[in-house]
Amino acid sequence: MPTKTIVTVNSNGRQSASLIRVASAVGWQVRAQMRDKNGIVAEELSELPNVTVFIGALEDPKFLANLFKNAQLAFINTTHWGDEVAIGRSLADAAKKAGIQHYIFSSMPDHSIYNENWKALPMWAQKYTVENYIRQIGLPATFVYCGIYHNNFTSLNYPLFRMELQDDGSFVWRAPFHPDIPLPWLDAEHDVGPAVLQIFKEGPRKWGGKRNPSVALAFSELTPKEVCRAFAKGLGRRVKYNRGPIEIAVPVPAGYRHHLQALEDTLGRQSAPYFGPELEKNCTEQALELWEGYRDIEEYAREVFPVEESANGLTWMEEGETEQPEVELDFQGSC
Ligand SMILES: NC(=O)c1ccc[n+]([C@@H]2O[C@H](COP(=O)([O-])OP(=O)(O)OC[C@H]3O[C@@H](n4cnc5c(N)ncnc54)[C@H](OP(=O)(O)O)[C@@H]3O)[C@@H](O)[C@H]2O)c1
Repeated sequence: MPTKTIVTVNSNGRQSASLIRVASAVGWQVRAQMRDKNGIVAEELSELPNVTVFIGALEDPKFLANLFKNAQLAFINTTHWGDEVAIGRSLADAAKKAGIQHYIFSSMPDHSIYNENWKALPMWAQKYTVENYIRQIGLPATFVYCGIYHNNFTSLNYPLFRMELQDDGSFVWRAPFHPDIPLPWLDAEHDVGPAVLQIFKEGPRKWGGKRNPSVALAFSELTPKEVCRAFAKGLGRRVKYNRGPIEIAVPVPAGYRHHLQALEDTLGRQSAPYFGPELEKNCTEQALELWEGYRDIEEYAREVFPVEESANGLTWMEEGETEQPEVELDFQGSC
């Protein structure tokens, strides 16, 4: 039985929960930080073997010192709730002080460093600032960059990944991405856990032989048209891609609105690579070296999307399939 202990934070989130389930199943010890134990994921994780829940705030340095004390490994996924840079730095400081041997930080790129015309996506650039801090203080670290989650998709009226249900039972996905340029995809709940566990097993020096390497976590690269084709196969319904500007029809926090505006310009209009130019090259190779049993978009659409939609109170999946599933594309110019 391994004696190592992994620290996770924001443990009910899709990335950390995925790792906790896998680590628990193979007998690794997990210390899972949560804000509270409310909700079905918190309840589920709390009852898993080998998992100890630590309730506390990431802004509290005493809590952090206790969280990392005598642990050896950490998977740290910060979020935009609160001051992400301050929280990211104090987590790294606490881990350094506790002598953490391998710190895996879930980062994202700052596109503005690659091209003067590309805007930084605010919610991602904060993570890159933290990544640089972790490099500076010399923690033995690996940085993972997550592809686009399959379960961003919803038929609810949320911006960017809305699969909009039509009167005839088909779906339309409207987004600013070029229809024929591949994007990297990830089933966060299914595949973050096994891939991150493998990175821990291989140790902090594995990737590229560099001291602090980065790994793209994306198991498929599909264009928006190919994504719609996979969804159409999985659902047995027509799914159409429609390139267009992001519609924000529900109230969203100001920070998210800025993030979406930068995304529309940099990843949409300018087709900048999602991970930035360095990691984007053959990006699925790294992830597939870590874990081959990934869930693809067709499987997600068939097995998971209807269940998640039903949990959101939607009933379209009970109403049968439309005839002759096929993919159509409406190209409406650049956004
Ligand atoms: N979606 C994508 O395609 C994608 C791709 C790459 C990177 N990311 C990054 O992934 C991060 C999110 O990670 P995730 O997907 O694992 O998390 P998630 O499933 O979106 O869950 C959010 C997590 O943040 C926690 N949280 C902390 N403070 C909160 C607050 N004040 N209000 C609400 N939630 C709060 C939640 O805790 P509770 O359970 O207590 O509410 C929960 O653990 C984001 O920073 C995002 O940029 C996402």
